[in-house]
Amino acid sequence: MDVFPDIAQETRMVVLTGAGISAESGVPTFRDKDGVWGKYDVMSVATPEGFARDPGQVWRFYNERRKQAQSVKPNAGHYALVRLEEFLPEGRFTLITQNVDHLHRKAGSRNMHHMHGELAKVRCTRCEKVRETLEDLPELPRCECGGLLRPHVVWFGEVPFDMDRLFSLVEACDLFLVVGTSGVVHPAAGFVIHAKRSGATTVGVNLEVPENRGFIDHFYQGKSGEILPRLVEYWARCLIA
Ligand code: APR
Repeated sequence: MDVFPDIAQETRMVVLTGAGISAESGVPTFRDKDGVWGKYDVMSVATPEGFARDPGQVWRFYNERRKQAQSVKPNAGHYALVRLEEFLPEGRFTLITQNVDHLHRKAGSRNMHHMHGELAKVRCTRCEKVRETLEDLPELPRCECGGLLRPHVVWFGEVPFDMDRLFSLVEACDLFLVVGTSGVVHPAAGFVIHAKRSGATTVGVNLEVPENRGFIDHFYQGKSGEILPRLVEYWARCLIA
């Protein structure tokens, strides 16, 4: 296995996570064997057109995932990123996640962005108000204004949240770490490319070789719950030395 790259006090780090980091918590990924998109038709449950056609089917899918989200707990990978944020100097750590679960937040990560939204939030299709709730919802939940609610998640064909800001953060970082994502869904899959072209060192941790492997300088193949604690331990020692 490649040696871990060093960091310094000044290192500005951006971490991107995907479904793989939550796999060891029991949350299925999307494209692995037994993944979500092997069981559900993505066009029916994760596009604006699918929602317009059959909102009940979309809500049944999300209600199931919301229910599952209540029972899962963060794993060693999530906690390693919390530790990393704690020992890096203030303002040097940003976490971007594609995951709509709340495991990073539950573990204790603070400076983070849910670029694909959050399972725990809903948005009114009429008044646009966003609210947080993990309570059970009816099949066609309504806002107090009468409008139909939708999950506050980003579907295929929609633009992820805060993209300008996130690309600026990626452009300004010195080290970009990407964890548990197949690297096929853009724009998230383009962050590592953007980071590398902007001069950052790029590091990847993934069970399988991701699509954008060619842009990752140091790649560690395996489970994030096993590799991240070792990587973070190494970085903690870099800052003490
Ligand atoms: N540790 C590290 N990596 C893992 C682990 C693990 N324990 N288990 C699985 N993986 C890896 C898989 O090898 C795979 O490459 O995680 C990756 C998960 O890939 P996807 O299922 O494609 O998930 P992700 O990349 O997050 O999907 C991106 O696609 O459907 C949309 O909006 C959804 O945010 C999602 C986006």
